[in-house]
Amino acid sequence: GAAVTADISKLEDGQLIRVEWRGKPVWIVKRTPAMLETLTKFDDKLRDPASEEPQQPDYAKNTHRSKKPEIFVAVGICTHLGCSPTYIMKDFEAQVEGMPSGFFCPCHGSTYDMAGRVFSGVPAPTNLMIPPYMFVDDTTIIIG
Ligand code: FES
Repeated sequence: GAAVTADISKLEDGQLIRVEWRGKPVWIVKRTPAMLETLTKFDDKLRDPASEEPQQPDYAKNTHRSKKPEIFVAVGICTHLGCSPTYIMKDFEAQVEGMPSGFFCPCHGSTYDMAGRVFSGVPAPTNLMIPPYMFVDDTTIIIG
């Protein structure tokens, strides 16, 4: 399938935009410093915090699961049965006290953190898939 170019020059802190790639929704999120800070705090609640699953690209095998820490790119499809999860953004205090910002699947209640890592005890078997992508420059991403 054809690659897709995304312009992220207008992406604001905390904002999520969707592009379509091979008929799938791909999310691009600009994570805030507070979101990045909480990525390491919930590892014991995640099924696969280091993304050791073999189907993940090498650049997804780090805490932020991305090429640039603040820019998160993921296929926006729940790994359980394919629903589209909802983006839930919380303020920093709420993140520290309880569940961090992340993604909630309304179909059967799977939850993912801001790196698309699945929490333990939900139906989804794996972290969200990270598509192949590259930065052409600071504000242009090619997906595919
Ligand atoms: Fe998302 Fe089942 S499809 S939890």
